[in-house]
Amino acid sequence: MRLADRVSLLRPSPTMSLDQKAKELQTQGRPIISFGVGEPDFDTPRWIQDAAIEAMRQGKTKYTAVAGIPELREAVARRFLREQGVEYPAAGVVVTVGAKQALYELFQVLLNPGDEVIVPSPYWVTYPDQIVLAGGVPVIVPIGIDRGFAFGLKDFEAAITPKTRALVMNSPQNPSGVVLPGDEVAAIADFAAAHDIVIISDEVYGKLVYDGLRHRSPASAGRAAQDCTVVVDAVSKSYAMTGWRIGYMLTTDLDLSQAVQNLQSQLTSNPNTIAQYAALAALDGPDTDILKMRDRFQSRRDLMVERLRRLPGFETDVPHGAFYCFPRVRDLLDHPPRGLAWRDADELAAYLLEEAAVAVVPGTGFGMPDYLRFSYATSEERIAEALDRVAAALKA
Ligand SMILES: Cc1ncc(COP(=O)(O)O)c(C=O)c1O
Repeated sequence: MRLADRVSLLRPSPTMSLDQKAKELQTQGRPIISFGVGEPDFDTPRWIQDAAIEAMRQGKTKYTAVAGIPELREAVARRFLREQGVEYPAAGVVVTVGAKQALYELFQVLLNPGDEVIVPSPYWVTYPDQIVLAGGVPVIVPIGIDRGFAFGLKDFEAAITPKTRALVMNSPQNPSGVVLPGDEVAAIADFAAAHDIVIISDEVYGKLVYDGLRHRSPASAGRAAQDCTVVVDAVSKSYAMTGWRIGYMLTTDLDLSQAVQNLQSQLTSNPNTIAQYAALAALDGPDTDILKMRDRFQSRRDLMVERLRRLPGFETDVPHGAFYCFPRVRDLLDHPPRGLAWRDADELAAYLLEEAAVAVVPGTGFGMPDYLRFSYATSEERIAEALDRVAAALKA
């Protein structure tokens, strides 16, 4: 069949394809350890599961309002107030099918053809594709390990043009784990407000911050900053609820909120009703489980960094948030062990999957071809075992 031209803009998500390949090999009996996945290995806390069961028993199995049940929209606003000290009207909250749908809808309703969106690189794989699908132009600003991945005001200042419509902030960031300092976040927010640029602030890892640091949202930098920021978040990562598919956005602009709802009403209608009740319980519930998971991630991070730093040709920063390490492997590619050679990180990742039965994601999809992404959302035993195998495969 003849497909629409639009299809040629679509690339499959590299993280999803990798995960699929790893799963295929697993079904063939290979003992694959995957560092490819972007989700916690923990189960959704029992009390959140119970809230979903209770909702079903009470007959909460019908359509809801497109933007979600009012209680959940209020809980999202309440939670943000508690964490960032900033108030949002519940009418400015739209509940979506994961953060991914919130981002997709935002680009669709904000961008006209040719509008530019500044995206610091490395970036989460999905942003550029969603921007292009909306007719926009991603303006990629590379920031590497030499700068500790810390993108900042000067990068946005250098990239702005009359066509700049929005910028994407993702702190803590996937894949680098960088957490921007609060004063830098505020400076970017002031700059965006002064230039009438929308900040799309993807805060899905906001609760997974280590070493006593705190995540600061650009929306907390004053009224003008809040008005130009749209916060995107989800219960996916922080509550180990990736499969429930509940995300949300917060904005003070009720026209934007309505436009998103109109689009969503034609796409999916409301997000899963039962999952909304689970998310409501999560957001209003105690933080004990989140904190426990966060502490586990921090010790896994320590182990992962320590083990990656032993590998020849790997340059590894300490990530302060999310659950990924993003070492640069340029040295290894330039000086491979005797008898081995890889043209790029894609080939290296394919070699590690074949030879060490360890799945990692090449940096190409994140805009940084000399890097590999290792997710440490897996047990210490598996991290140690997998890195032993990687070391052996690299003859370290
Ligand atoms: C930075 C970032 N934003 C958004 C998402 C998507 O989140 P959700 O599963 O809630 O759609 C992910 C998932 O990997 C992510 O890493």
